[in-house]
Amino acid sequence: MIDDLWYKNGVIYCLSVGTYMDSDGDGIGDFRGLQRRLDYLHGLGITAIWLMPFQTSPGRDNGYDISDYYSVDPRFGTLGDFVEFTHGCKQRGIRVIIDLVVNHTSDQHKWFREARRSKDSEYRDWYVWSDKKPANANTGMVFPGVQKSTWTRDKEAGAWYFHRFYDFQPDLNTSNPHVQAEILKIMGFWIQLGVSGFRMDAVPFIIATKGPKVRKPVEQYDMLRSLREFLQWRQGDSIILAEANVLPETDMEYFGADGDRMHMMFNFHVNQHLFYALASGDSRPLMKSLKATKPRPATAQWGLFLRNHDELDLGRLTKAQQQSVFKAFGPDKDMQLYDRGIRRRLAPMLGGDRRRLELAYSLMFTLPGTPVLRYGDELAMGDNLDLPERECARTPMQWSTEPHAGFTEGHKPCAPVIDKGPYGYEHVNAAKQRRDPNSMLNWTERIVRMRKEVPEIGWGDFEVITVRDPGVLAIRYDWRNNSVLFVHNLDEKPREVSFKVGLPGEASKLLVNLLTEDHSRSDKGGRHTILLEGYGYRWYRVGGLDYLLKRSDIDTDAAGKTAHPA
Ligand code: GLC
Repeated sequence: MIDDLWYKNGVIYCLSVGTYMDSDGDGIGDFRGLQRRLDYLHGLGITAIWLMPFQTSPGRDNGYDISDYYSVDPRFGTLGDFVEFTHGCKQRGIRVIIDLVVNHTSDQHKWFREARRSKDSEYRDWYVWSDKKPANANTGMVFPGVQKSTWTRDKEAGAWYFHRFYDFQPDLNTSNPHVQAEILKIMGFWIQLGVSGFRMDAVPFIIATKGPKVRKPVEQYDMLRSLREFLQWRQGDSIILAEANVLPETDMEYFGADGDRMHMMFNFHVNQHLFYALASGDSRPLMKSLKATKPRPATAQWGLFLRNHDELDLGRLTKAQQQSVFKAFGPDKDMQLYDRGIRRRLAPMLGGDRRRLELAYSLMFTLPGTPVLRYGDELAMGDNLDLPERECARTPMQWSTEPHAGFTEGHKPCAPVIDKGPYGYEHVNAAKQRRDPNSMLNWTERIVRMRKEVPEIGWGDFEVITVRDPGVLAIRYDWRNNSVLFVHNLDEKPREVSFKVGLPGEASKLLVNLLTEDHSRSDKGGRHTILLEGYGYRWYRVGGLDYLLKRSDIDTDAAGKTAHPA
């Protein structure tokens, strides 16, 4: 049954153990601290945690430079603490997915240290070498402006090594069967310790051909099938969520035409067009991006997000679209990064405007896919642009008005807590917002609950409804004899729109509002006319709440079309 697939319908919450909660006063968040905050997450209603890298690491790229895949970095605790944590999540019905960072290791990893020592080392071939400086050494950098090349000479090895990311992150030779076997072993290890899957880092680079002679890397998509196969045999309900910022044309290569590759992918395409829509008030490119990313196997799912731990990458927009997003949300040079993105958190980007924040999250929670919320966004936390690169949006969680926002009892947190301005912890913190019925936290909790009450989004099929106003986006989902409909006004001015639900029968004459008493009855011809305030949004169930009781067990009618309430 499709509704057994937990990742198709839930709410994922992404956090970094180091900046979440410190239990021992050393200023660094740890698993015991996180454990104590599980009830908070349970209360918020999220269904899965995406835990960012916590394995042993020199920590030069926020943990994305791992030096031992089979351990917990001692700063964060022990393997014992980790298992207590996954167990605590299981008890509360929360799944855990962890980062799988296997495109590269840290240069401090034992494998690399062995590999550079001698050409005869059994690990030499685990990395990608060249005797001479390759002609394309100064191309293909992921962090332009900060990273100077993709090949660096290693004195000890007497050769050049390939690194798609920073020079301290040598790429693994992922075509080497020994490396591939090791990746499976790493997955098997963490599965055994209670995780339900992986957010796989940098997937297009993992499967690309690598080497000094490779001019145009070729993706070896078959690798994705073997990863999935292994995982499914080990633990049938575990998943891979791929980080792959790719063009819609290749989506099906990642999902697999038979749904036999990645279970989930982040929808970077929709993400960028969503920000353009928020910046310009024009929903048309967003609509186009929804249609372009519509094709996917029934078992596959999109991860829908607004901001994550990296910069907001606008590289897929046209130059003019990029400029309008920069102008609206990141006009100053120090708000931008890598010539293509914005490094701020969402709340400051939207000027802390509650109406716009709600609009943005309402979209994230109702567009096709599973929403992925970033820690602190439920409080509308801010950023600290004095910190370098992407660190500005990775400050400690703001729990209370106690010193250092209650994140640590120590004197010096690993990263400074935001303590000034409107986003300072004295104003923005969980303790205060918990008590305030109108807080962002309580709004988020409610929207998470409502999202869980409309599984049609996760499991159903969608259709964009014509409203003939570029400022307004209307979308309907159908699943097992039930339909829901969402309307968003991207413009700051009020809008009146009129539309037909697009379904036959009496049911579509009534739209029951799930968030307020403001329901809608159509005219005789079946047209609804709705007045939306600036940045307004509506969540409706078609036909009324009773229609839920008419939910069918099957997805399609006899003609093979989605069954509608008639
Ligand atoms: C991914 C991560 C990013 C990291 C990079 C290298 O893009 O999201 O944070 O720096 O991979 O591992």
